[in-house]
Amino acid sequence: MSLISGVSAIFFARVPRAFRVVLDAFGAALDPFARSVGGGTARVYEPTSYHGRPMRARKLIRTAIAELKASEAIDHWQKGRERIEAEDLLGFVMGDEPDPEDKVGDAERDVFLGLVARRATGEPIPYIKGFTEFRGLELASEPGVFVPRDSSEYLAEQAVKRLRGRRSPVHVDLATGAGTIALSVANEVPKATVYGTDLSEDAVKLARRNARRLGLKVRFAAGDVFGGLPTTIAGTVDVITVHPPYVAMDEVDDLPDEIKDWEPVHTLTDRSSDGLGFVRQTVAEAPTWLRPKGWLLMETDPDRARDVKKVMTDGGFRDVQSTKGGDLKITRVIVGRRPA
Ligand SMILES: C[S@@+](CC[C@H](N)C(=O)[O-])C[C@H]1O[C@@H](n2cnc3c(N)ncnc32)[C@H](O)[C@@H]1O
Repeated sequence: MSLISGVSAIFFARVPRAFRVVLDAFGAALDPFARSVGGGTARVYEPTSYHGRPMRARKLIRTAIAELKASEAIDHWQKGRERIEAEDLLGFVMGDEPDPEDKVGDAERDVFLGLVARRATGEPIPYIKGFTEFRGLELASEPGVFVPRDSSEYLAEQAVKRLRGRRSPVHVDLATGAGTIALSVANEVPKATVYGTDLSEDAVKLARRNARRLGLKVRFAAGDVFGGLPTTIAGTVDVITVHPPYVAMDEVDDLPDEIKDWEPVHTLTDRSSDGLGFVRQTVAEAPTWLRPKGWLLMETDPDRARDVKKVMTDGGFRDVQSTKGGDLKITRVIVGRRPA
């Protein structure tokens, strides 16, 4: 997996506080451009005039890194994030991974600096580029629909693992967004019958568009939680996946600007006071849809893993476990089997 995809493993940036402090301190210690101001760390960024001066990719990237580091809209907890994003955007403009010694023409340079300026306002890179990569699939991404996170690759992996060995597997991806998990399963387990549902019509439209472009068959439908599913599949589903909107309503304001100012609030929170409203509803209704011993897999953040596990255990689910994975080993997927 590329470093670029590692960056978007920051899902709701709900990394445990202690972990972030350590990372921030580590980053500051290694960064020669960082200087300490009032007990914190600030970056010195001098805007430069670019016109009339041919630039090497190396210098442009350095300029972009400084601009991104100075942005207050971006969450800087992950060391090296700004370089990865600058290189990603320059590669996007140049049509290829840039070599540091490449000369960048005036037109490309201006486009690149324009994109960096957009990113510095917090606009997510997949909205800027119009697509993102997820488990080797290029998924279209656009404002109004949640940006797929690399953290969810682990959720897809857990689903694929459980579906591959079955003769005629049936998979349901709730809250599917751009079709993220559903499309990965359709791609990696071609014999599976896959359903994806989301409350948002915009999400369902984008998911269908992604499926068409990729030549993958998924039955997408709009609906509230299980609402879009045909009743004929009740009791037959092998695996249900869900990456729910799990931020508590009063925590939305604490999210970084790059998330709360850009992604629709209904994709972030279910408006419950503890962020578990969607989870509770899923746990209550999933047994109707799962086959005996079928699996429910729910992605959440480390802070909420214990609570989600308890909701599933209290709901009668068996073999409930909190599993950990993804590049940074912080994604939690709580797994459990249908109650008897
Ligand atoms: C965190 S996003 C996950 C999207 C996608 N699964 C992914 O990982 O890229 C949560 C999704 O839940 C959807 N959603 C919110 N409330 C819903 C509801 N009541 N029923 C179905 N979907 C809902 C949102 O539209 C959003 O697409």
